[in-house]
Amino acid sequence: MNCMIITGASSGIGQEFARQLDALFSDMDEIWLIARREDRLETLSRELRTMCRIISMDLTKENEMELFGDLLEKRQPCIRVLVNSAGFGLMGAVEALSLKEQTEMIRLNCTALTEMTYRCLPYMKRNSRIVQMASSAAFLPQKNFAVYAATKSYVLSFSQALREELKARGICVTSVCPGPVDTEFFDRAEQYGKTLAVKKMTIVSARRVVRKAVRDVRDKKALSVCSVPIRSFQVLCKILPQKAIFRIMEMLS
Ligand SMILES: NC(=O)c1ccc[n+]([C@@H]2O[C@H](COP(=O)([O-])OP(=O)(O)OC[C@H]3O[C@@H](n4cnc5c(N)ncnc54)[C@H](OP(=O)(O)O)[C@@H]3O)[C@@H](O)[C@H]2O)c1
Repeated sequence: MNCMIITGASSGIGQEFARQLDALFSDMDEIWLIARREDRLETLSRELRTMCRIISMDLTKENEMELFGDLLEKRQPCIRVLVNSAGFGLMGAVEALSLKEQTEMIRLNCTALTEMTYRCLPYMKRNSRIVQMASSAAFLPQKNFAVYAATKSYVLSFSQALREELKARGICVTSVCPGPVDTEFFDRAEQYGKTLAVKKMTIVSARRVVRKAVRDVRDKKALSVCSVPIRSFQVLCKILPQKAIFRIMEMLS
């Protein structure tokens, strides 16, 4: 049974991946849609032509992750595509944000992504794809977005290393690193702090990010960076000393 697994499918980028991958693959038996909001997943499934398995689970809960492992063992799917999109961010100073929410962010963005990847790998074969939602926040430590940026650096580093490890098995890992994307992400992220206005000027749609990502995944690219401003930001982060970029960011804030 050929399947695609998408976390964070109830909203934003994950939901858009479900739509675009559903339109692209005609030989897929099932799409497994994962998130906590079951009603959203049900609505999405009715829109898709591929049969969907709705998996309503909290990825930060160990027991729910184990049940997911049991499901994999029972169904023995051939996972052709895994998209790890579930994630959230919080703006604000480390000391101003609650410890509970910041550790939850690490559990979802890092631990759950790693565990999903680990649990799915035995069911993948040559030419399977792993898509990891990182962020342009992975390119630079960010004041007032410290834990989020650090989680995304983890995702990028982990995924780039894993890509090298999986070359022998013919499994390709692509890290997607967009700047701001117009989704519900900001409803939670801006609860305690505001995004820099200059960053908001570069906002793009989830459709555009995913269209580019799907092409890059097809072409087996290591990195998918959607727009010119974010590609330029990536290059600046590589060539300028960190101190200089911090100063530029300070001037823009
Ligand atoms: N939007 C941006 O500006 C932006 C930029 C760069 C990278 N990203 C990254 O892109 C990914 C998708 O973000 P988005 O913009 O699509 O945000 P979004 O619209 O808020 O979607 C987040 C998804 O994660 C799911 N989720 C959150 N907590 C969960 C949990 N504990 N267990 C299971 N699922 C959970 C949510 O579903 P439920 O609430 O139904 O569980 C939702 O489907 C994230 O990893 C984010 O860090 C976003």
